[in-house]
Amino acid sequence: MASNRKLLILPGDGIGPEVMGTVRKVIDWMDRRRAVSFDVDEDLVGGAAIDKHGAPVTDATVDKAMNCDAVLLGAVGGPKWDDLPFERKPERGLLRLRKDLGLYANLRPAICFDALVEASTLKPEIVAGLDIMIIRELTGGVYFGEPRGIETLPNGERRGVNTQVYTTSEIRRVAAVAFDLARKRSNRVCSVEKANVMESGVLWREEVTKLHGEQFSDVELSHMYADNCAMQLVRAPKQFDVIVTDNLFGDMLSDAAAMLTGSLGMLPSASLGDVDESGRRKSLYEPVHGSAPDIAGQGKANPLATLLSYAMSLRYTFDLPEDADLIEQAVNNVLAKGLRTPDIMASGMAAVSTATMTDALIQELDKMAA
Ligand code: IPM
Ligand code: MG
Repeated sequence: MASNRKLLILPGDGIGPEVMGTVRKVIDWMDRRRAVSFDVDEDLVGGAAIDKHGAPVTDATVDKAMNCDAVLLGAVGGPKWDDLPFERKPERGLLRLRKDLGLYANLRPAICFDALVEASTLKPEIVAGLDIMIIRELTGGVYFGEPRGIETLPNGERRGVNTQVYTTSEIRRVAAVAFDLARKRSNRVCSVEKANVMESGVLWREEVTKLHGEQFSDVELSHMYADNCAMQLVRAPKQFDVIVTDNLFGDMLSDAAAMLTGSLGMLPSASLGDVDESGRRKSLYEPVHGSAPDIAGQGKANPLATLLSYAMSLRYTFDLPEDADLIEQAVNNVLAKGLRTPDIMASGMAAVSTATMTDALIQELDKMAA
């Protein structure tokens, strides 16, 4: 049956195709058991696109991404493409998608599943029950700022330049997403920058404060320097509810937050743009982890971050919160049963492959839908 839910799958490189295989099976299950069907298209990104087309993403693929409801991406990159010139590296494909689709708000929830409390490198009491949301600005800052480049100076020395830059509107729109989300959670936002050393940080703090006063004074707002935030995340992460921060700080802080949950293999993300005239919000969903070339093709990959990213698409794009709940519950159940991919393995648990984990997930879903 034709569906009006258009999903573009971009598996990418390394473990990307393996973890996307799990999502495909769950999508089939949804079709069979929930009568929720998707019109799924699949295309290349990253190294896979470089090998086939000579570019990390083609115009045609970007076009498809623009015209679907949600993009689901695996991971990009690998040693094979490390020596390519900067502009042709696999990562540029992902960055172009984020930029061209205007996906300025990147939601990175860090939730510690009860069964994984022991998998974290931190003490159980520090991470048990953790549920925080990092909102990372995704289309501005030093990632895209101009001027940038490497130049040779008259004296023969070389000079590398990047620019950290934010405008009022860039700050306000991502802060608004954070305040909105906080209202649906514990109603607290911590805004993170380095206003003590960066003008862009001073502006960030001023604009967030101003917007808060204008529209969101019911939300509790605090400010923190990024270095302190890194320290607080590993010292007492449960003090946070929503963290909103810039592109680079968000990149680093979300990796740190990932380890609180046991493994980078557990963290999903949603990247959202503005709502257009037709009421559609451009969106891309991807795991926070990378392509893990060292374990690719060995059946060792943890598919849960990608599956949870798909669940996020059900929540934020497709308005299917019950189905999102179902998938999150299935993840919870397989973990509670003791199944572990190598990245979250703990003593007394059962080490399983990607395929076994996938079968177990489908069984759980079957049980719940019965
Ligand atoms: C991430 C990744 C990317 C980033 C890379 C792959 C370009 O680390 O999504 O966190 O730096 O944004
Ligand atoms: Mg990162």
